[in-house]
Amino acid sequence: MTQTRESWGSKFGFILAAAGSAVGLGNIWKFPYIAGENGGAAFIFVYLICIGIIGFPVLIAEVLIGRTTQRNPVGAFAALTPSKMWLSVGFLGVLAGFMILSFYSVIGGWTIGYVVETLRGSLSNFHSPEEAGVLFGALSGNATWTLGYHTLFFGLTMFIVVRGVQGGIEKSSKIMMPILLSILVILMIRGMTLPGADKGLAFLLVPDWAKINGQSILIALGHAFFTLSLGMGAMMTYGSYMSKKDSVITASAQIVFLDTIIAIMAGVAIFTAVFASGLNPAAGPGLIFQTLPAVFSSMTGGVYFSFLFFLLLAIAALTSAISLLEVVVAYFVDEKGWNRKGAVLIFGGSIYLLGIPSALSFNLMSDVTLFGKTFFDIVDFIASNVLLPFGGLMIAIFVGWVWTRTSVMTAVKEGAEQLFETYPWFESVWFVFLRFVAPVLITLVLLSSLGLV
Ligand code: PHE
Repeated sequence: MTQTRESWGSKFGFILAAAGSAVGLGNIWKFPYIAGENGGAAFIFVYLICIGIIGFPVLIAEVLIGRTTQRNPVGAFAALTPSKMWLSVGFLGVLAGFMILSFYSVIGGWTIGYVVETLRGSLSNFHSPEEAGVLFGALSGNATWTLGYHTLFFGLTMFIVVRGVQGGIEKSSKIMMPILLSILVILMIRGMTLPGADKGLAFLLVPDWAKINGQSILIALGHAFFTLSLGMGAMMTYGSYMSKKDSVITASAQIVFLDTIIAIMAGVAIFTAVFASGLNPAAGPGLIFQTLPAVFSSMTGGVYFSFLFFLLLAIAALTSAISLLEVVVAYFVDEKGWNRKGAVLIFGGSIYLLGIPSALSFNLMSDVTLFGKTFFDIVDFIASNVLLPFGGLMIAIFVGWVWTRTSVMTAVKEGAEQLFETYPWFESVWFVFLRFVAPVLITLVLLSSLGLV
């Protein structure tokens, strides 16, 4: 292909976009509730270890494949190996992007819906999470409401991606990420200054090791993938627009840092408020949509905080959704010679359609189940619990064992010569994690997802 490929305008732009991909519903909706269900501090500790020993090494590997080949996940493997098997790994990534975005947009839509409901005043009169739960049930149970916001959220995602890497993704991330961080700081300060906030902080900081078991370790590890957008080529695709003058390792470290600190900040904002109101931290997936509206209702100025909180969620979801769509679009642009606009319209449109049964899983189609799972649950399960860990496993094996150590080192040293001179041990440590630690642990997660261990 002769036409020049798109690229990021600056290193900073790439970091913000990649952090935007990583920071999403996973950090602000999922992380707090799984931490809440699994006992708080001890779980967070295990999660941090998983991020460090699996997430970080695999993220470097994934970004590196993209940066070296300057291609989408399928083209990237094709450029590095003649073996057809690896193409299917890239292809499964594109498929995972397709699937995750379809249901992600449904929840993303709810967050916009909650911003609107806050403005309409319907979220400020709850006396208990149960009351908030009734409204949540009514809204998510309403097909027009869920479909309408799914459409709006998806429309925004397509609107950004159609504008391209620099003009759409990078530019919007540069606007949205600072807003996200500022809102989070405001909410965190509000949480910490509530009377009784110390109980929430203790929940996050004082570990109760009895709460940790095999299952919670697997949940932490699985979540490490989802939250870092690993294993399906999103980071590979973003890495493919990165300059060879920048260090993949430093960039990956910055992405991990931002993603982790934002998850923790969200935890602080949420649990200080939940504990200050004497509510249950282990409320599960409804923590955000049921427990928090009850907390906001009881707070002075709660409407403003509620507005900011759901806006924060919507922004976080949007910057992740664009990375999911970009994987699919990059594949059709690089490999099939489509133009960006056509690819966004046709494939974005198809993903949108696939999202419809997910949106209806909470209402008209809630009785349509397979193994007790709704359409939404099935797509989520296959993509997040099977395809992502599998993709991560394959990336670790590919960089650790297949793509020869000399080539990997030549590639990773580009832009990072200094780093390897200062920390010569980094190479062997990284390889040990890629070759042994990551494959063994990820295989365990996969087997557990499939109910085999
Ligand atoms: N990392 C995103 C989140 O935490 C989800 C995501 C997964 C985005 C995979 C892109 C790819 O919400």
